[in-house]
Amino acid sequence: MQKVREMRAEGIEVLALTAGEPDFTPPRAAEEAGIAAIREGRGKYTPASGTQTLREAICEHIQQDIGLSYAPSEIVVTNGAKIGIAQALLALVQAGDEVVIPTPSWTSYPEIVGIADATPVLVPCGPDHLPRVADLEAARTPRTRVLLLNTPSNPTGVVYPEATLRELGEWALAHDIVVLSDEIYAALTFDGAVHRSPLAVVPGLRETSVWIGGMSKAYAMTGWRMGFLAAPEPLAKKIGALQSQLAGSPCAISQEASVAALREGAAEREAMRAAFESRSQLVVEGLRAIPGLECAMPQGAFYAFPSLGAYLGKTEPTTGRRIDSGDDLAELLLELDRVSFIGGGAFGKPDAFRLSFAASEEVLREALRRIAARLATLS
Ligand SMILES: Cc1ncc(COP(=O)(O)O)c(C=O)c1O
Repeated sequence: MQKVREMRAEGIEVLALTAGEPDFTPPRAAEEAGIAAIREGRGKYTPASGTQTLREAICEHIQQDIGLSYAPSEIVVTNGAKIGIAQALLALVQAGDEVVIPTPSWTSYPEIVGIADATPVLVPCGPDHLPRVADLEAARTPRTRVLLLNTPSNPTGVVYPEATLRELGEWALAHDIVVLSDEIYAALTFDGAVHRSPLAVVPGLRETSVWIGGMSKAYAMTGWRMGFLAAPEPLAKKIGALQSQLAGSPCAISQEASVAALREGAAEREAMRAAFESRSQLVVEGLRAIPGLECAMPQGAFYAFPSLGAYLGKTEPTTGRRIDSGDDLAELLLELDRVSFIGGGAFGKPDAFRLSFAASEEVLREALRRIAARLATLS
């Protein structure tokens, strides 16, 4: 992404399929509420765990969308989901504890686990991008403390089916393992997929585990830095106490905007979801039309995660460069074709690459054309 910035600074046009943020604007009501909060002088400190009004709106949202019942005292509003995950881990783990992360996974998880002084234990998913209990069990030790789940998934776009969630959740519960369930893409599902939370599928987890959500993805509010988590009250209090020393309080302006987005932003959220659904079809059809490339249909988030398949080990004739990974392909396409995407190495699956479809259909079509043309030259 740094390279893309440099190329753009030199005036080179790059078709970027790298973004982890929607190319949409926040709901209008959120923008208006943010402006009103500024104009009316409410940019002040708030309670450390967030305003009562926003925590009530979050409870309504979690009840309605996820089917989980929480009280405002069990909610912590955070400055983005990322710091929420970090603070939850800081509250949950001690030095030497292990956190199991099914891979491919979001790049930041192992790093955040490391910051919390715990050890990330990466467990590869099956070919369907779903974790298997037998693999988790093989990775379990007396120090296993947390299972980090992410559905819909970044980078694979897989939405965990209920049966999988039940198996994983029951396994975690049976072994006193806390589930940290990152559901930040929950509202963005398609292809007939239905989002379910492991905490709703296995109700016992509600009493031990942490649910993570936020405004960045579903409401196109990445830079507003608003996330939230739900946890049993003693744990929520502990995380809130940590936050009061680390961040003071979440951003007051963004909190007011988030209340408006949650209560009045449903139509805009749905329009964005529908756009991602139609782009997902465009992207996957384009990828599947390339002989030898393999790509599962994403069912959520806004990424496709194809495997290099038959192209692994092939060479680009003009440069003589061998393609041994998705990272190699990403470098080649950026240099020769001005198309950027992220190699799978960052997500724990080097033979794959991630295409974000947070870009216009025109950009996506042209990028796919260039990818297909370049792959056709490899031998
Ligand atoms: C799976 C996942 N969780 C959490 C986040 C962080 O979101 P936020 O912007 O709220 O910190 C991201 C952002 O890329 C993500 O992909």
